[in-house]
Amino acid sequence: MPENKEKFLVTSALTYANGYTHLGHIAGSILPADIFVRYKRLTGADIIYVCGSDEFGTAMEVKSIEEGITIQEVIDKYHFSNKKAYEDLGVSFDIYSRTSKQVHIETAQQFFLDLYKKGLFKERTEKQLYSEKEQRFLSDRFVLGECPHCGYEDARGDQCENCGKLLSPFDLINPRSKLTGDIPVVKESKHLYFPLSDYSEKLKTWLESKKKWKPNVLNYCFGLLKSGLEDRSVTRDLKWGVKVPVEEFKDKVIYVWIEAPVGYISATKDLFETHGTPDKWKDYWYGKDTKMIHFLGKDNIIFHAIIFPAMLMAHGEYILADNVPANEFLNLNGEKFSKSKGVGSLVKDIVKIYPADVIRYSIASSMPENRDTDFEMDEFRTKNNNELAAILGNFINRTVVFAKSKFENKVPADRKTAKEDEDILAYASSQSEVIGKHYNEYHFKDAISETFNVIRACNKYFNDNEPWKKVKDENDRCASIINTCLNLCYNISILIEPVLPNTSKSIFGILNAGSSELKWENIGKKLLTEGNSLGDNHILFPFIEEDKAEDKPESDAVDKEKPKKEVIQKVKITENVTVSNDNLVISIDDFKKVVLKVAKVITAEKIEGSKKLLKLKLQVGDEERQIVSGISEFYTPESIINRKVIIVYNLKPSKLMKVESQGMLLAAKLNDKLTLVTVDTDIESGAEVS
Ligand code: 2FM
Ligand code: ZN
Repeated sequence: MPENKEKFLVTSALTYANGYTHLGHIAGSILPADIFVRYKRLTGADIIYVCGSDEFGTAMEVKSIEEGITIQEVIDKYHFSNKKAYEDLGVSFDIYSRTSKQVHIETAQQFFLDLYKKGLFKERTEKQLYSEKEQRFLSDRFVLGECPHCGYEDARGDQCENCGKLLSPFDLINPRSKLTGDIPVVKESKHLYFPLSDYSEKLKTWLESKKKWKPNVLNYCFGLLKSGLEDRSVTRDLKWGVKVPVEEFKDKVIYVWIEAPVGYISATKDLFETHGTPDKWKDYWYGKDTKMIHFLGKDNIIFHAIIFPAMLMAHGEYILADNVPANEFLNLNGEKFSKSKGVGSLVKDIVKIYPADVIRYSIASSMPENRDTDFEMDEFRTKNNNELAAILGNFINRTVVFAKSKFENKVPADRKTAKEDEDILAYASSQSEVIGKHYNEYHFKDAISETFNVIRACNKYFNDNEPWKKVKDENDRCASIINTCLNLCYNISILIEPVLPNTSKSIFGILNAGSSELKWENIGKKLLTEGNSLGDNHILFPFIEEDKAEDKPESDAVDKEKPKKEVIQKVKITENVTVSNDNLVISIDDFKKVVLKVAKVITAEKIEGSKKLLKLKLQVGDEERQIVSGISEFYTPESIINRKVIIVYNLKPSKLMKVESQGMLLAAKLNDKLTLVTVDTDIESGAEVS
C-alpha cells in the first residue's frame, strides 16, 4: 500500500469548564473523533487531534457564584477533572488545551484585530441594564424580575424558569440585579457586529460543494441560509472574557462564541510549542492540503458550519472545515442530557465502575449518527456480557487456552495449511477495506458491526475446523489451525484498536507480540513468528453482574435540589429464558442475546441432600462446563452420560446447594413430565443453536 499522505486537523468541540463532562459530550463530539483519529493513525496519515476547555463567558461567572469559589477555581476544577476523565476513557488528544492560556488570549485578540483592521465590523449602539452599585452592565442571566407572562417573581433576564418563556431583560417587570438586588438603570453601550449576512452567498457556494457532508448538517445549514442570516454582535459588556484589543472598546470582552473556535488555532500552537517546534502549527492552518474535521453535537452546527467559516473567510489566511460530521443527541434512559446531566451520566463516575473500553464500545455502538438515540445505563453490562465477552473475549480466550494446553503456550508451526485458512485471512483483509470506508465516511456504527462480523467469522472458523478433534491424529493440521487463529487474534487487535484501544494492547500482551506491526494494511497477514512463546492469558471482559451497579460512587455534581437518583440505575432483567405464562413478546435482538450451544454430557452425579439436582460436567467445544440441573427425578446420572443437550451458554453463573452452575439445560415440561431438549443429528458439541 502506498504511504498515506493525507493530512488532517481534527477537533472535538471545546468542553465548557463549568461542569463535568458527560456521556452526551462523549457520544457527540469526543468518541467519534477519537475513533476516526485512531483509525487514520493506523493508516499512516499525518493527523493531529486538538481539543480543550472553553473557559470564558457568563456561565463560568454563574458557576463561581453558585459554588462560592473564584472563577479561576471553577475553571481549574473542571478543566483538570475533565482532562483526567478523557484520559481515563483513553481519548488520544494530541493536546487538551484551555482558552484561559496566554497563547489563546493572544491568538483570539490577533484574529479579532485582523478583522477589525479590515474594517469589517459594524458599530451599533444598544440599550442595556446597568448597575450603578456594581459599576457594570448586567448580562441577561444576572437580571431578575417579574415574568410578564406568568407573574413569577424570580424570572431571569433570558428565560422564565417557571413558564419557560424566552425573555429579554427589558421584558421583566421591576428588574433587579441578581447579585446585589440593585435596581438597574438603562444605559447605552456601543458594540461591534460581524456582518454575517454579507457572507450568505459565499457560504452557500461553499456548502454546495460539500457533497459528502451528512444530510442533517447540510439541511440545517441551508435552512438557516434560506431564512436569512443576521449580523452577530462580537463584543460583550462582561468582566470575564478575552479583552477586546481596540482602545475604544477596551472595557469589553470578545463574545465567547467568536473567541472560542479560535481556540482550535491556539490549541494547535500550544501543541507545537510543547513539541519545541513553535512554527509547525502553520503547516496545518495555512496548508491548503490539510483537511480540518470538526466533530460536535448538532447544537453546535451553526457555529462550526456557518459563523466560524464566515469569520475564517473574512480573515482569509486559514483553511476552512473539510467536514463537520455533527452527531444528533444521545438520550439517557429516555431523558435529554440537559435534564439528566449530573445524574449518572458523568464520565468521571462511570469510569470508576466500567472499564474504559466497555464504555467506549457501548456508546460507539449506540452513537446518534443520524437521529437521536436512547441509551440505557444497563447497556454497559449487557454489551460487555453479550457482545464483548461472548464474541471477542471468547475467540481470544479459546484460541490462547488451546495453544497453552496443546502447544506449550507457543505459536505452533504452520505446516499443513488449507484453503479455509487463506479464506478467513482474505476475508479479514477485504473487511478491513469495508470498515476503513465506513470510518472514512463517518459511519462508525457500521464500522463496528462489520468489525464484529470478522470476529464472528473467526469463531466460526474455529468451530468449523474443530482443532480439538484433530489434535491427536492430525496434529500438524491442528497446529496450522491454531497458528491461523493466533494470527487472527493479532489481526483483530489491529481492527478493534480505534474503538477498543486498551483491549488491543491487552491482546498484544497475551500474544507476547510487539505493536510495531500495528498498521491497518497488515490486517489479513500472518505476522506472528512460529515458536514464539505467548504471554500470560487473562479474561478480557469479565462477566459483569447486575448488582455491580450497587458499587456506585457518589457524584458531587448531582443537582442538590433534585431528588437524588442512583448514579447507575438498576435494570430488571429476566434471568431465566423460559418465559411461558405471561406471553411476553421479545424482539429478535432480545433473542439474539441468548447464546445457546450444543453440549455433551461427560459426567453426571447426584448432589448430596438434594432430590432434584444433578451435577453435570459437559463438553462445549474445547471447553468444559459444570452445570447443576433439576432433572434428577427424570434422569439417572448413567442415562444421560454422552447425551447431547442444549445449554444456555451465556447465563450468569450461580450457586445451587453451594455448587457452582455455569449455564442451564433446556428442557420441555408438560404436566409432570420433563424431557431434555436434544439435537436431531449428531452435531459436534460447541455448535451454536440459533
Ligand atoms: O457547546 C459547547 O460545549 C461549547 N463549549 C463548544 C465550543 S466549540 C468551539 F467552537 F469552541
Ligand atoms: Zn413566566
